[in-house]
Amino acid sequence: MKKIVVTGGLGYIGSHTVVALQLAGFEVVIIDNLSNSSLDVLQGIETISGIKPQFEELDLRDKPATISFFKKHLTIEGIIHFAASKAVGESVTNPLLYYENNLSTLITILQQIQHKKQISFIFSSSCTVYGQAEKMPISENAPIQQAFSPYGNTKQIGEEILQDTAQIANGLQVISLRYFNPIGAHASTEIGELPNGVPQNLVPFITQTAIGLRKELAVFGNDYPTEDGTCIRDYIHVVDLAEAHVIALKRLLDKKHETSFEVFNIGTGKGSSVLEVIESFERVSQQKLNYKIIDRREGDVISAYADTTKANTILGWKATSTLDEAMLSAWKWEQKIRKTN
Ligand code: NAD
Ligand code: WQD
Repeated sequence: MKKIVVTGGLGYIGSHTVVALQLAGFEVVIIDNLSNSSLDVLQGIETISGIKPQFEELDLRDKPATISFFKKHLTIEGIIHFAASKAVGESVTNPLLYYENNLSTLITILQQIQHKKQISFIFSSSCTVYGQAEKMPISENAPIQQAFSPYGNTKQIGEEILQDTAQIANGLQVISLRYFNPIGAHASTEIGELPNGVPQNLVPFITQTAIGLRKELAVFGNDYPTEDGTCIRDYIHVVDLAEAHVIALKRLLDKKHETSFEVFNIGTGKGSSVLEVIESFERVSQQKLNYKIIDRREGDVISAYADTTKANTILGWKATSTLDEAMLSAWKWEQKIRKTN
């Protein structure tokens, strides 16, 4: 069994990917410091896959502990690196937290693995690196824009660090996956998104409003140059996204990659407006959502959806879930967690 380390493996995307890896026959070791997740997730993973993953509670900012971890796990063949801080607004008020947690950790890990004969590395990047792209859909060749936030900057710099390191470290092969907007939860409702405090992202805000935790959803602007005036995004089901990691990892392990650093957009290829997301929610939940239109949110791009040709043809991955399916899974998850908590 090939042994894969998943950093941030108890988090939202990490936990779904751990399940996908286990079901694909990999042995998984999770690293997480529980800063944005809980130990209960381990049970959820085990309930779905029937396999309890190995877990090391470890803060990747703790360099000696991270070095010890990699000394103990010499036989690992791959790393999927999710661990990071991800709140865009917080990154503006506390940039050093973001540069430290998202970049110093990456550097420490690379220092431990750069001399290995063969090691595959998958990086969690983001469509945020494109900023407001000129052309839709956005292909991987679209220019990287000046980052709007320190968070976005950590993804750009993270990719550069990886590209430079893969250039000189012969055994290191990297795929950077640029996620569009992950939403939804596992169909079992055993794992899903657990936002800390007031959600900043659209879908958890919708489901929390519908369940009665929030009074109403504020829609940030309806005067954008789009069909209904609200912003367009590419919402991808987290289970499809998780599967992309397994496929990318296999590409590296099977030595199918063309260069030591490759980039793929991971989205559905379809743009949906904020109002379309609300309509989808109302359709699948069969209830009206309380919302009002307010001013634009600073920093929002008008439109961002992926050209997925490269992921479809070269990686051999394609999103399979519809927006309605993803919204229904998010709604079922919200109902489940409020019932049990
Ligand atoms: P998440 O917060 O749910 O998961 C991250 C996990 O990493 C958490 O369990 C947290 O406890 C852990 N972690 C954070 N810092 C750590 C540290 N120093 N040491 C050990 N563990 C640490 O986030 P997510 O939504 O699952 O995102 C995963 C990755 O994908 C992140 O790198 C994020 O930037 C990236 N990403 C997320 C989105 C999104 O919308 N969710 C979009 C694009 C990219
Ligand atoms: C989606 C749409 C909002 C909340 C963020 C990060 C980005 C990436 C994904 C990690 C926008 C609108 C939202 C609300 C609203 N993460 N909205 N009311 O802005 O595309 O990207 O998450 O890499 O870096 O910036 O996602 O879910 O915040 O917003 O009207 O209460 O919903 O204006 O149009 P976004 P989002």
